[in-house]
Amino acid sequence: MKILKWMLPFLVIFLSVTVSMAEEADTIDDLLRMYDETTCRDCHPDQYNQWQESFHARAVVSSLKGMNNFFAIGVPKEWERKITKVEVLKCLDCHAPVVNYASEKLAVEIAGMIINAWTNKDEKAKKELSRLNVGCLACHNIKATAPARGLLGEPERGTIYTPNMVISPAHKTEPVNTMNKSLFCAQCHGRYVSSDGEQIMCNTLSGSYYNAYVSQGGSETCQDCHMKKNNRGHLFPGGHDLEIVKEGIGFTAEIRGVRHTVGKWIPRAIVNVDLENRAGHRIPDG
Ligand code: HEC
Ligand code: HEC
Ligand code: HEC
Ligand code: HEC
Ligand code: HEC
Repeated sequence: MKILKWMLPFLVIFLSVTVSMAEEADTIDDLLRMYDETTCRDCHPDQYNQWQESFHARAVVSSLKGMNNFFAIGVPKEWERKITKVEVLKCLDCHAPVVNYASEKLAVEIAGMIINAWTNKDEKAKKELSRLNVGCLACHNIKATAPARGLLGEPERGTIYTPNMVISPAHKTEPVNTMNKSLFCAQCHGRYVSSDGEQIMCNTLSGSYYNAYVSQGGSETCQDCHMKKNNRGHLFPGGHDLEIVKEGIGFTAEIRGVRHTVGKWIPRAIVNVDLENRAGHRIPDG
């Protein structure tokens, strides 16, 4: 007992050192080893294959131009600031949340790779960047507790969070009541406040979801329309998918032939078109 009391402060120091050492990666390889998603496919092939088709799977490489503008022009030239991890996270906290666990050095390197991939069309850099995205663990771990962090705390590494009560022999699972709520999606699909207080408005979709849809009595969640409906699952279809785009636009046209008499007979057609937005928010987003 006495020995234990004596050892306790050391144990705490030892633990916090290993945690802080293990929490930041210096290379993309190390980062993706810490948040390893290569095995998910073995046991959840449906979710994996669907996700791979989705924009979440290419959330950095499909946005290279915008990110290049921010890292090569916006931050250094317009605001005259150095690229730091805080600046990098202003984009990647949503586009590749795993970068939260990159070291300062790696985060700055990633910004350099983005500039290189876009301005020099460097295919090797682009291929490396394609490994960074909104992956399984971005949702099922890194961002899972954030909408109720006060209650649920920081996500625990290695735990898989899900809205359901399930037990897996393969990994620890923990049910959370955040992941089936719109707020979970809205943390990325909406206005963002960076750790230095700067606000980023990359997209504003969730604002119109709450202000124009929920406030008018709309009751479906993002997950209802984008995952559950038509078994969309992890495909997350949006503006790039014709099927869901059609669903979002109500279109009725009424065409009548008429003749006007203005001195003489003039044949005309009257076309009434009704366009209705049936999506749960403003479209298109931007
Ligand atoms: C060796 C097999 C195996 C591996 C590897 C694995 N899982 Fe699972 N997982 C399971 C099993 C079994 C369950 C229990 C429920 C079920 O059968 O879907 C489960 C449950 C889950 C659930 C909850 C399902 C629900 O119905 O709510 C999620 C989410 C999940 N896993 C995600 C992942 C992710 C992400 C990875 C990769 C980091 C992963 N799993 C790796 C086998 C595996
Ligand atoms: C709050 C989270 C968030 C932040 C922060 C964020 N984005 Fe986005 N970004 C998104 C989401 C979500 C979309 C998809 C929007 C949609 O399709 O409605 C998106 C879309 C984009 C697109 C369009 C991609 C395409 O496929 O057409 C670009 C480019 C982009 N972001 C660049 C940036 C840049 C540059 C930054 C940093 C200055 C940034 N984003 C910061 C969440 C974010
Ligand atoms: C953008 C966030 C997001 C990403 C990325 C994501 N998931 Fe999910 N996943 C969810 C949500 C939300 C649910 C619960 C959906 C619901 O309420 O029906 C879910 C449910 C699941 C389930 C339970 C069964 C099901 O299909 O509903 C499994 C298993 C799962 N995910 C595995 C994965 C794996 C494996 C990956 C990576 C290939 C992944 N998820 C990527 C958000 C995500
Ligand atoms: C970690 C941040 C994050 C979370 C959480 C997240 N998304 Fe996304 N989502 C993104 C980003 C970033 C993009 C844009 C990728 C790109 O094109 O560059 C995107 C793209 C999409 C798209 C495709 C848009 C298009 O233009 O085709 C849909 C649909 C979507 N998300 C729905 C959802 C739903 C529904 C949820 C909640 C279950 C969710 N997302 C949760 C970050 C996130
Ligand atoms: C009532 C059903 C419904 C709800 C609720 C809903 N959506 Fe949508 N969403 C749609 C439809 C339909 C479209 C396709 C319309 C289009 O892009 O023209 C769409 C499009 C999108 C797009 C692509 C936008 C673009 O400009 O390309 C994103 C991203 C998205 N939704 C995310 C979300 C998120 C996040 C939530 C919750 C905050 C949400 N949606 C709630 C039906 C819904």
